[in-house]
Amino acid sequence: MATDRNIITDISDYLQFLKEAGVSGFDCSEQTLKTISTWGTSQQKNPTPPVEPGDSESLAQILADLSDCRGCKLCGTRRNIVFGSGNPDAKLVFVGEGPGNDEDMAGEPFVGKAGQLLTKIIEAIQLSRDQVYICNIVKCRPPENRNPEPDEINACLPWLKRQIRAIQPEYICALGTVAARALLHSQAPISGLRGRFFDFEGIRVLPTFHPAYLLRNPDKKREVWKDMQLLMKTMGAEGSQEPVFPPKG
Ligand code: URA
Repeated sequence: MATDRNIITDISDYLQFLKEAGVSGFDCSEQTLKTISTWGTSQQKNPTPPVEPGDSESLAQILADLSDCRGCKLCGTRRNIVFGSGNPDAKLVFVGEGPGNDEDMAGEPFVGKAGQLLTKIIEAIQLSRDQVYICNIVKCRPPENRNPEPDEINACLPWLKRQIRAIQPEYICALGTVAARALLHSQAPISGLRGRFFDFEGIRVLPTFHPAYLLRNPDKKREVWKDMQLLMKTMGAEGSQEPVFPPKG
């Protein structure tokens, strides 16, 4: 609508004016101005602007661009966008599949039962949730906790890439089939991918079983513990003497 376009142009012009005036205390990059210029156009359906490896932007910038995303059909049923949480300078990023009901309500990743197990896994490798970064392949909850569909993954993956490029971690732990396949462009099952490192844009990616799968198959914790020991050894951390999560079922 013409009126909408006028408002959008006004917002963009005003932000540009503030930026040129050197006003501090807010983040207005070229990317924001580009994103605003796509509002109200046909590109609005998927507002993810292309960001190349090497481009630098903050997580706050990416979150601002993501706000009220309508890039795929999950926007119609979500309560909250679940962007990610933790250390923006993390050396290690955990990537899950997508928010469940608890995460959708809280707007935070991995806060339900699977999240509590993930917390134990992180603590078993001598780290805390605050030291790592945790996010998902899709940022909005798939209804009935179904797997995200290929069009949803494709629409959301650019946001994850931007997050990873902003954080620049050395390691990514891909939790479960959906995360491993999406990051590694593989069709292999997680059982065939876990336990060894792959490359994603120069970052070492270690796939392992998803904590929700471990809740249903506690015997698989032993394999995840092996993967975490490999991760600790490779990251140069001291191994836990008395891990809490693995053998206790
Ligand atoms: N499962 C996921 O993959 N991600 C979450 O955030 C929670 C559960």
